[in-house]
Amino acid sequence: MDRLMSSARLMIVSDLDHTMVDHHDPQNLSLLRFNALWEAHYRHDSLLVFSTGRSPTLYKQLRKEKPMLTPDITIMSVGTEITYGNSMVPDEGWVEFLNQKWDRNIVTEESSKFSELTLQAETEQRLHKVSFYVLKDKALEVMKALSVQLEKRGLDVKVIYSGGMDLDILPQGAGKGQALAYLHKKFKTEGKLPQNTLVCGDSGNDADLFSIPDVYGVMVSNAQEELLQWHAENAKGNPNIIHATERCAAGIIQAIGHFNLGPSKSPRDITNPLETISEKFEPGHDIVTFYLFLERWRRAEMEFSEIYLAGLRATSFPSYVFVHPSGNELSINDCIKGMRSCYGDKQGKQYQVWVDQISRTEIGSNIWLVKFNKWESSGEERRGCVATTVVSSKDLSGIDGFSWVHMHQSWLDEAEPKDQDWVY
Ligand code: GLC
Ligand code: MG
Repeated sequence: MDRLMSSARLMIVSDLDHTMVDHHDPQNLSLLRFNALWEAHYRHDSLLVFSTGRSPTLYKQLRKEKPMLTPDITIMSVGTEITYGNSMVPDEGWVEFLNQKWDRNIVTEESSKFSELTLQAETEQRLHKVSFYVLKDKALEVMKALSVQLEKRGLDVKVIYSGGMDLDILPQGAGKGQALAYLHKKFKTEGKLPQNTLVCGDSGNDADLFSIPDVYGVMVSNAQEELLQWHAENAKGNPNIIHATERCAAGIIQAIGHFNLGPSKSPRDITNPLETISEKFEPGHDIVTFYLFLERWRRAEMEFSEIYLAGLRATSFPSYVFVHPSGNELSINDCIKGMRSCYGDKQGKQYQVWVDQISRTEIGSNIWLVKFNKWESSGEERRGCVATTVVSSKDLSGIDGFSWVHMHQSWLDEAEPKDQDWVY
C-alpha cells in the first residue's frame, strides 16, 4: 500500500480463474501480453489487485502453475481475506469487521440439512467462507431456502453462486465488491484514492465488483451466464461496463484501450523495434523490451544479425559487469559472446521470459537503480532470479537513450539450478 507516494494512476482489480488466467491457453499468451504491458507502462505508478475465490492454499498453487505477476494486494476467499504485498500481510481490520452477525457453526449446522449441497475441499473452508458444490438446476431453490433458515437463526449472510457449480456462504459485509469498497475507503482517508479503477471478472462472485460506484468494469468475452444475467438485470445501461470481445487477459487489455485508461498496446504485440521507442524514458519499458528480445532471439523468432550484438555493446558502458547468479563476473565481451552462442538454443522448447515487480528509482541525474524479478520457463521447468541493475538514460556520449551500467542477479529459488544456459 505504501509503495506509491500518491494516488495510483490506475488500479486494476481482477479475478484470476478464467479472467486474468485462461485455463484454455496452455501457452499463456494473453497473460504474458498483460504482464509485459503492466510492467512496461503501469507498475511504477499503478496498483495491481487480484481478487479470487481461491483460498491462500489454492492461490499459491495457481501461482506455481501460471506465469502470474505479483499483485500489490491479494483478496482471497471471495473477498473475505485481504493481504498486502509480497509477504501477504493480512488486514486485521477486515477480519474484525467480518465477525459481525456471523457464526460459522450455525452456517455449517444449517447447511448440513441440505442434501443437495456437497462440501468443497477442506482448504476452501475459511473463517468467513463456507463453500459447497451444487447442481445448476438446484442452485436457486437451495440458495433461497438456506438464506431464510440462516436469517431465522439471526445471521446476516450472502449466498453466492459461481461458475455454474460453486456455492459460497459469506458474512453480508463480505464479498469481492465489499472488499474493494473497503480498500477505496482506506485509500481515500490516506488521500490516495486511485484516479481510475478497472474491475475484471467472469463469474457470479465477480458481480459484486461491478456494483461498486465509480469503477470501470470488463466482463471478459468468456464470462459465465450467471454474470451476464446479473448484468442484464442490474447494470444494463451503464456505459462504464463492457462485455469484451476478447477472452481473459486479452479482454482486460481491450478494456484499458476502450476506456482510455492509458497505454493498451502490449510490448509483446510490437514487432517493429522502432515502434518501441517511448517518448519519456521509462526504465521498466526498456527492461521488458530487452527480455522480450532475449526470448525471441533464443527462440530464433527473429533473424540472426550482428547488428543486435553491436547494439548491445553500444548501449553498455565499457566498465559494465554482469554478476551472474552463479557468482561469476562477466564483462560486456563475455555477455556478447554468450548472446551470440545462445541464438536459437530454445527453438521449439516453449521458452518464455517474463519480468515481475519492476521498481526503479532515479538515484542521480540520468542514473537509475532498477530492481525486478526475472523468470524463464521451458515447458514445465521454471527458474527465477532477482536482478538489481544500474542503468543510464544517457549513453557515454551524452545522447538520450537506455544504457546498461551494471547488473547483479541472484537465484530466487533455493534449489541448486543448472546455470549453463542462463545468459543475461
Ligand atoms: C474458487 C474457490 C471456491 C469457491 C469458488 C467460487 O474456486 O476455490 O471455494 O467456491 O472460487 O467463489
Ligand atoms: Mg473466475
